[in-house]
Amino acid sequence: MINQIIEGDSFELLECIPNGVVDLVITSPPYYKQRDYGMGIGNEDTPEGYIENLLTIFHECVRIVKNTGSIVFNLGDKYNKEGSLSLIPFRFAAEVIKNEPVKLVNTITWIKRNPTPRQFKRRLVSSTEPFFHFVKSNNYYYNIDAFLTEPNTKKGRRKRENTNVGKKYFKLIEASTLSEQEKQKAGEELHKVIEEVKKGEIAEFRMKIRDIHAPAFGGQEGGRKTQLEKQGFTIIRIFGNELKRDVIENSVETIKNCPHPAVYPESIIRELVKLLTREEDVVLDPFVGSGTTAVACKKLGRKYIGLDINPEYCEYARERLITTQAKLGWF
Ligand SMILES: C[S@@+](CC[C@H](N)C(=O)[O-])C[C@H]1O[C@@H](n2cnc3c(N)ncnc32)[C@H](O)[C@@H]1O
Repeated sequence: MINQIIEGDSFELLECIPNGVVDLVITSPPYYKQRDYGMGIGNEDTPEGYIENLLTIFHECVRIVKNTGSIVFNLGDKYNKEGSLSLIPFRFAAEVIKNEPVKLVNTITWIKRNPTPRQFKRRLVSSTEPFFHFVKSNNYYYNIDAFLTEPNTKKGRRKRENTNVGKKYFKLIEASTLSEQEKQKAGEELHKVIEEVKKGEIAEFRMKIRDIHAPAFGGQEGGRKTQLEKQGFTIIRIFGNELKRDVIENSVETIKNCPHPAVYPESIIRELVKLLTREEDVVLDPFVGSGTTAVACKKLGRKYIGLDINPEYCEYARERLITTQAKLGWF
């Protein structure tokens, strides 16, 4: 099964995979009554029936995944006939943590930069989807340094060219009882840190000045408190842009001439594969559709198993993998 796209029903195919052999399951099952794939799950009579089917698949995934592995499910919600959100993804996740021996590490929210541009008068445009990250043990593989090496929101990347950032501190330094030498040093350091904010290297900063802030400044002896007393000021840099947050901003992707109507973004999958696996690890997608998971794995040197019930999608996924291989080079 390794490095193959296999056509068939995941309810049956998953049974052929032995216990504890997969490092990561990452998938996007059909959403409830969103699209008609012509076959397979997603068109059950009730949301409960749909969740039940997803739980059966999930149960198999737990069996197949190694103790150090992860399971990531991406799901979308749906408004019911009464116009209320059904909360299907969260109902599914709640059932999982109630019934399966797994923990929910994060709900990673995909923020769609280009949601369907249909504005309603009395509700906002849905533009997020959860990726639920479950693990079987506390010993799960996790390479946080490999995840989103670029800031993952537009805000994170924003430079602050023309702002009054830090201006108030110049006035405070001037009004303080620091010596002339201390004032000069404080001014120089203030200029430096303002530049760091403007370049987007840090998110923001705070400056504490001896006679102004020291009385109220807690801090430990020997740390900033000593710095404040000895040099007359201290600067606290806030690396907000560097935080690895549980949100990923990405556009909804479409692939030219792709027969599949609901492809998930390859770049999000690549980030999660880097975060949760090593090279040569095995990644399974029981609803592989157009083959996005397999393509991400091929590019990153991971092994993949892709299952899908629809022969046309399987064929397309195989062709996509050949093109990917050709672009990567054969050797
Ligand atoms: C949301 S799509 C997955 C799209 C995929 N992530 C991509 O990027 O192309 C869900 C897929 O599940 C498949 N599917 C539905 N029921 C299935 C079943 N019982 N077994 C295997 N595949 C099934 C559908 O054919 C569809 O391609």
